[in-house]
Amino acid sequence: MGKIIVAIDGFSSTGKSTLAKQLAKELHYVYVDTGAMYRAVTLFAMQNQYIDNKQFNKEKLIFDLKNIKLHFVFNEEKGFGEMFLNDENVEDEIRTLEVSQNVSQVSTISEVRKKLVEQQQKMGTKRGVVMDGRDIGTVVFPDAEVKLFMTASADKRAKRRYKELLDRGDKNVSYKRVLKNVESRDYIDSTREDSPLKKAEDAVEIDNSDMGMQEQFERVLSYISTVLEK
Ligand code: DC
Repeated sequence: MGKIIVAIDGFSSTGKSTLAKQLAKELHYVYVDTGAMYRAVTLFAMQNQYIDNKQFNKEKLIFDLKNIKLHFVFNEEKGFGEMFLNDENVEDEIRTLEVSQNVSQVSTISEVRKKLVEQQQKMGTKRGVVMDGRDIGTVVFPDAEVKLFMTASADKRAKRRYKELLDRGDKNVSYKRVLKNVESRDYIDSTREDSPLKKAEDAVEIDNSDMGMQEQFERVLSYISTVLEK
């Protein structure tokens, strides 16, 4: 088989992007982090006061969507594409807990999803892509040759995300706040009307609560090899 699409969906902080980056590097494929795109739209909404922890003016955001230009620029050193919002590198800004607290709300908007899904589908026209998100195997590429669905306990995921934020120097975080955020995003992501997070029927489920990243990578790679040999 020639180049394929690897779709990785699952709950937040299940290590989707770590796995996706490792796979893309190994296969010489392009890695696309679709969560970064939803985060960048959220940052735009925050910068324009369309959303904060008290209000969300959906109409204004929808009206202004045409003024959002997103693209990835490959960073040789980091080995993946960094997110640019209207030609500005926002890779760090989109990873804060504040953005995480608003992103699920923004992701419920169908107009936002339509715009981003179209752009994601364009990136996969030549296959050779590892894409992670919530609706890749169900909506963006229902015909992906490999579909993975990742889960882990909320506690394990919150611990990982908490450590990540601390390592990044974010001092305003507590484990409790991170756990609350993980649980609330799980809820909103899986109950929203448009493209809720759910396992595609033909996806392989991986629970990595007690699995090391290296072991997971090796298992998935061997599964992908069997698909490529077909
Ligand atoms: O993968 P992440 O945690 O960076 O994603 C941030 C949020 O974006 C997530 O809570 C839900 C939303 N998202 C989405 O709705 N669809 C996607 N394909 C990717 C992310």
